[in-house]
Amino acid sequence: MKAIVYDGIQKVQCREVPDPKIEKDDDIIIKVTSTAICGSDLHLVHGLVKGMYDGFVLGHETMGIVEEVGKGVTKLKKGDRVIVPFPVACGHCFFCEHQEFSQCDNTNEYGEAGGLFGYSKSYGDYAGGQAEYLRVPHANVGPVKVPDELTDEQVLFLTDILPTSLWGTEIANVKKDDTVVVLGCGPVGLLTIKWCILKGAKRVIAVDRVGYRLQHAKGYGAEIVNFEQYEETGAYLKEITSGGADCVIDCVGLDGKMSLMEKVETALKLQGGSKSAIEIASQAVRKCGHVALVGVYGTKYNNFPLGNFFTRNITLKMGQCPAIRYVQLILEKIKNGEFDATDIITHKLSLEQGRHAYEIFDAKQDNCIKVVLKP
Ligand SMILES: NC(=O)c1ccc[n+]([C@@H]2O[C@H](COP(=O)([O-])OP(=O)(O)OC[C@H]3O[C@@H](n4cnc5c(N)ncnc54)[C@H](O)[C@@H]3O)[C@@H](O)[C@H]2O)c1
Ligand SMILES: [Zn+2]
Ligand SMILES: [Zn+2]
Repeated sequence: MKAIVYDGIQKVQCREVPDPKIEKDDDIIIKVTSTAICGSDLHLVHGLVKGMYDGFVLGHETMGIVEEVGKGVTKLKKGDRVIVPFPVACGHCFFCEHQEFSQCDNTNEYGEAGGLFGYSKSYGDYAGGQAEYLRVPHANVGPVKVPDELTDEQVLFLTDILPTSLWGTEIANVKKDDTVVVLGCGPVGLLTIKWCILKGAKRVIAVDRVGYRLQHAKGYGAEIVNFEQYEETGAYLKEITSGGADCVIDCVGLDGKMSLMEKVETALKLQGGSKSAIEIASQAVRKCGHVALVGVYGTKYNNFPLGNFFTRNITLKMGQCPAIRYVQLILEKIKNGEFDATDIITHKLSLEQGRHAYEIFDAKQDNCIKVVLKP
């Protein structure tokens, strides 16, 4: 089959790989109809996540038609149309029983975190779904059937960025009448803004440096701040919110734009990747406020602004979203017209155009926000 594979840092290509096969009784194989590229894939391609190797199949936002089922699969049958949330979860360990599916204890023999599709050996070594076919282990737990009347584009993001953005607003404690700062206006940041507005936030302030993404945020009703126009973005945000926002949600992650000092620290290997967004968050939040790190981090950080968080009694939460927990809830909202995420799709391309797709998404070219690939 054709698949998009990692072939070294900044090298992505579509090429032939072996077809996946049923390996365990509760596996299914799906024929992929749509799959998307996520900001998390960029961290892999930039070489910022350990455990990547040449030929690894990328992709964790995937849906399709069930092609084959193992004999232990009770929930699905051949021909069903399903979305596949990005965590691989057993469904019965302590963490799965507490709905913390991204921390499953039984799906990653290489590390403590739970398994994730297409996210390196460190996250369980599961081939991803930017491919013609995907093997889905533990198929009685993760995949969810979707109604025929909804298009792929309407439901595809149930696999990751819809649950992730909603979860971000929950761990950041966003409530009616709050002021929220959202750092990063990529797909995750934009959907986060939408949830904040739906939850009745009084002010949402969107921060990025990419003009067309800020304009998209403005279209939702957010105030916008281009962080490149301020020497001290955190201090500026604190000022315009009279002491800081109730909640700050970091939708940037470890390869955000770096300050000069960070570039030096990175070169000296004192830290890996950027912490600029965390720095801004530590200043932009009010005393006793909440900060959520939804953007992915992984390495050690020097000069982490712990003092700013501690002295001002900030609640800090973070992690990989337990996506499966939110699928039914959001699916209902999509069905009844309460939530729609299709406006962020700027490109629909073939798998063969995968390399180009990664390039424009990474470089923020051609007004790219979200790419959907059609195998
Ligand atoms: N926690 C989870 O479960 C989960 C799930 C999905 C995605 N993510 C993460 O969410 C993050 C966003 O994903 P995306 O698909 O929107 O990615 P993206 O790369 O399209 O968006 C990131 C945006 O942040 C902006 N940015 C860079 N530095 C910044 C800074 N210092 N301050 C403010 N904005 C800055 C960029 O210009 C870009 O528009 C990524 O780190 C991704 O890995 C996490
Ligand atoms: Zn993702
Ligand atoms: Zn489990």
